[in-house]
Amino acid sequence: MSDLLAQLYPDHLATLKQRADAALARGGFDHLVIAAGAARYQFLDDRPYPFAVSPQFKAWLPVTKAPGSWLVYTPGNKPRLVYLQPHDYWHVVPDAPAGYWVEHFDIAIIRKPEEALAHLPKDNARCAVIGEDNAALEAFVPNNPPAVVNYLHYHRAYKTDYELAMMRVASRLGARAHRAAEDAFRTGKSEYDINTAYLNAVHETENELPYSNIIALNQHSAVLHYTELNRAPPAHADSFLIDAGASFHGYASDITRTYAAKQAPEFQELIDAVDTAQRGFVEKVKKGTDYADLHIHAHHVLAGILRDQDFVRMSAESAVESGVSGVFFPHGLGHLIGLQVHDVAGFARNEAGDTIAKPAGHTYLRLTRTLEPRMVTTIEPGLYFIDMLLAQLKARPESQSINWDKVDKFRHFGGIRIEDDVACTDGAPENLTRDAFASLN
Ligand code: GLY
Ligand code: MN
Ligand code: MN
Repeated sequence: MSDLLAQLYPDHLATLKQRADAALARGGFDHLVIAAGAARYQFLDDRPYPFAVSPQFKAWLPVTKAPGSWLVYTPGNKPRLVYLQPHDYWHVVPDAPAGYWVEHFDIAIIRKPEEALAHLPKDNARCAVIGEDNAALEAFVPNNPPAVVNYLHYHRAYKTDYELAMMRVASRLGARAHRAAEDAFRTGKSEYDINTAYLNAVHETENELPYSNIIALNQHSAVLHYTELNRAPPAHADSFLIDAGASFHGYASDITRTYAAKQAPEFQELIDAVDTAQRGFVEKVKKGTDYADLHIHAHHVLAGILRDQDFVRMSAESAVESGVSGVFFPHGLGHLIGLQVHDVAGFARNEAGDTIAKPAGHTYLRLTRTLEPRMVTTIEPGLYFIDMLLAQLKARPESQSINWDKVDKFRHFGGIRIEDDVACTDGAPENLTRDAFASLN
């Protein structure tokens, strides 16, 4: 694997340099300076929150644990890494730089954060400085110029071959751990124990994962971001929704699967229908697909399932138009993914920071761009039985067209979501997630 990464890295770096050249020209700056970030402390405490490196920093090199470090790029020069390795016996000192990327950087080791100043450009007025407010040295307050940031964010949607290789690995790590979690569900484990099985298999700490695992048995999966972990197993675990990913050198996978217990074939039937629909949406991850249109299409297909399985007694069209489909599918079809699980610039119309509006009434959609090769998006349709939204529906005239007996029988299953990470190519979509599951067999 590291041979492949070593082979792909120079082109990745060349792409980042080209983007940085263009971004600096747009903003009228001479240098791009990126802070890795610094620890943030809990209120009135000396405990830091888990460190999260700036995504703009980890785009350049596979280093995610380098608080106090900086990256400097000046067009025409080798990029410089100012790397903080404190003399510190309290904490683990970041590893010495090593690996395929090192030869591409001019590296300055510093022992104290303030020593960075000597290695940063002299005239900070000529610098686009990307960073958080707490990452600043006195003379290097981040200015995060919108012309530069918008340009870099827009182009982050287009993954290099190196990034796609990283994301394939993140997908394989996640898929392997999903298998372990499914086994734990099938043997009657609690949410807490299923999560432990996942963590053991993915071999990452919770802080290293790209997002907090959602491990939900029965009606808990009706809470879209359920992150409790019940210690005791339920008397009957009839359904299981798991939304959990993995990280590889800062790149994310984001995977959801839903399972029915053997004694719940009626729920399996609904899962199978959503699964078939999901595969159909994946097929449409093609050059030129308007993602907002795909999201609306998903509403129609999911509404058709609700009608075919007799949850609603109305046409798919009227279910979508009246908002009934949104009661059962109340989130977006997906989002860009890469260095962040919800990658930036999902609404970007262009490099300048203009945006493409969401379709009216679809406030939770995170992606409105037209798909192009090298974009990676999730496809994550769902159908849920959410008490709060169903109670609101009951008060509306459309209530008469709902088969409440059937809906009520499904409430304890919570809901279904099936989520894959899919790369748009010049031809057929590449389903990173399903390829990863297939590679386990
Ligand atoms: N796991 C977060 C999401 O699916 O967007
Ligand atoms: Mn997602
Ligand atoms: Mn997810």
